[in-house]
Amino acid sequence: MFGGKSYILKGSLSLALIILILLVITLPVTEKYPPRISLIEVKKCNVAKGKWVEDRKRPLYSGFECKQWLSTIFSCRVMGRPDFSFEGYRWQPEGCNMPEFDRVNFLRRMQNKTIAFIGDSLGREQFQSLMCMATGGKERPEVQNVGWEYGLVKPKGAPRPDGWAYRFPTTNTTILFYWSSTLTDLVPMNNTNPPHLVAMHLDRPPAFIKNYLHRFHVLILNTGHHWSRGEIEEHHWVMHVNGTRVQGGYLKEVGNAKDFTIHRLVKWLDAQIRLHPRLKAFFTTISPRHQKCNNTVPLSRGRKITGDGGSLDTIVESAVNGTKVKILDITALSELRDEAHIAGSKLKPKKVSNVTSTPTINDCLHWCLPGIPDTWNELLIAQL
Ligand SMILES: *[C@@H]1O[C@H](CO)[C@@H](O)[C@H](O)[C@H]1NC(C)=O
Ligand SMILES: *[C@@H]1O[C@H](CO)[C@@H](O)[C@H](O)[C@H]1NC(C)=O
Ligand SMILES: *[C@@H]1O[C@H](CO)[C@@H](O)[C@H](O)[C@H]1NC(C)=O
Ligand SMILES: *[C@@H]1O[C@H](CO)[C@@H](O)[C@H](O)[C@H]1NC(C)=O
Ligand SMILES: *[C@@H]1O[C@H](CO)[C@@H](O)[C@H](O)[C@H]1NC(C)=O
Ligand SMILES: *[C@@H]1O[C@H](CO)[C@@H](O)[C@H](O)[C@H]1NC(C)=O
Ligand SMILES: *[C@@H]1O[C@H](CO)[C@@H](O)[C@H](O)[C@H]1NC(C)=O
Repeated sequence: MFGGKSYILKGSLSLALIILILLVITLPVTEKYPPRISLIEVKKCNVAKGKWVEDRKRPLYSGFECKQWLSTIFSCRVMGRPDFSFEGYRWQPEGCNMPEFDRVNFLRRMQNKTIAFIGDSLGREQFQSLMCMATGGKERPEVQNVGWEYGLVKPKGAPRPDGWAYRFPTTNTTILFYWSSTLTDLVPMNNTNPPHLVAMHLDRPPAFIKNYLHRFHVLILNTGHHWSRGEIEEHHWVMHVNGTRVQGGYLKEVGNAKDFTIHRLVKWLDAQIRLHPRLKAFFTTISPRHQKCNNTVPLSRGRKITGDGGSLDTIVESAVNGTKVKILDITALSELRDEAHIAGSKLKPKKVSNVTSTPTINDCLHWCLPGIPDTWNELLIAQL
């Protein structure tokens, strides 16, 4: 995208030349836009209220080209979805304009910084979206895989590592993702009957967060859809609080355990931010799952979120209230976009399988990329 050429020139060029190129490339674009509003103004405005507007300059990157960072399953163009009108919108907050995303400017602002996404597959989508945005969706051989620095290496026999970490060498910016679907600390229990039980400590942050927090400058957490009785049983998780097994009562109810975990984690993080003020932390509200998502007409559920009501995610909203952890409130604006899920794509047959038909995917939880998670990142970046 914009400034993509200047990035290839590497660090050998003088800063002045880069700025000149940037000016030349971005000037004609800015003209068409309303006057820039300062970031301070964005910080005061509730970016979760506003409307989706058509924007011919969308998407921010190509779903065909962003192969280096994007899981095939999230890339609806590669997966053969036939309609793409959902890609052509941006979010316009009410009462303030968001600065337009510019990847060179973004990386420069994030010089020497580490941005960490920790959560479930929705967090992973947001991470992959940011990688595509920051690279312009192009192959970038100079971007370094630094997963080993964070212990993110694929264990023998595992399908994938617990996460990924990449560094942009020109600005020394690191973007990483770590898988923690419930944001609890999971510790295998010894000699259990039945075997392979895992202690799920609701009142302890995942060890990964504790170990690496001092290296993060921006932390984005999310959880939600993995809190179900079925999932807990499938993984042999045994809820613990205060180091002992939860015996009954309030926390036996999965929804209450999730609420308790989110509140405790945010409280712990708030205390950490007071010790390390350079850290900015966000909690992403739950990403909506739609009942049905075979609709292909954008915005048939409306385009606006108005009013003074709070977030649809009252758990995250109340947990961050009065703390230094910020809410990244994406629920209501994403709810309007039932046409932007991974639906209508033809599942490519796997090499090993003898399946010849191509069943249609109807995943009404995850999103096509480019798509809605790009907007989540724009809202995040506007608040950094
Ligand atoms: C990169 O940034 C980190 C802080 O995140 C800093 O400790 C390190 O010295 C920087 N490295 C270079 C080469 O600038
Ligand atoms: C980034 O880190 C390097 C090495 O520590 C330092 O020389 C440089 O001034 C830092 N830049 C910023 C913007 O912090
Ligand atoms: C399990 O066993 C290992 C090694 O035998 C020990 O280090 C660890 O503390 C034990 N864990 C628990 C929860 O008892
Ligand atoms: C954990 O310990 C605290 C303080 O000792 C106590 O107030 C709380 O009720 C305990 N929680 C559980 C679930 O046992
Ligand atoms: C979506 O699926 C329903 C049945 O589940 C069908 O009645 C409807 O026509 C479909 N809509 C589109 C746009 O394909
Ligand atoms: C936030 O906390 C304040 C004071 O504790 C309370 O008055 C307010 O209702 C809370 N807001 C939300 C959205 O929970
Ligand atoms: C694949 O072929 C095997 C052997 O013919 C058969 O048992 C199996 O059901 C087939 N799998 C699928 C998914 O059709």
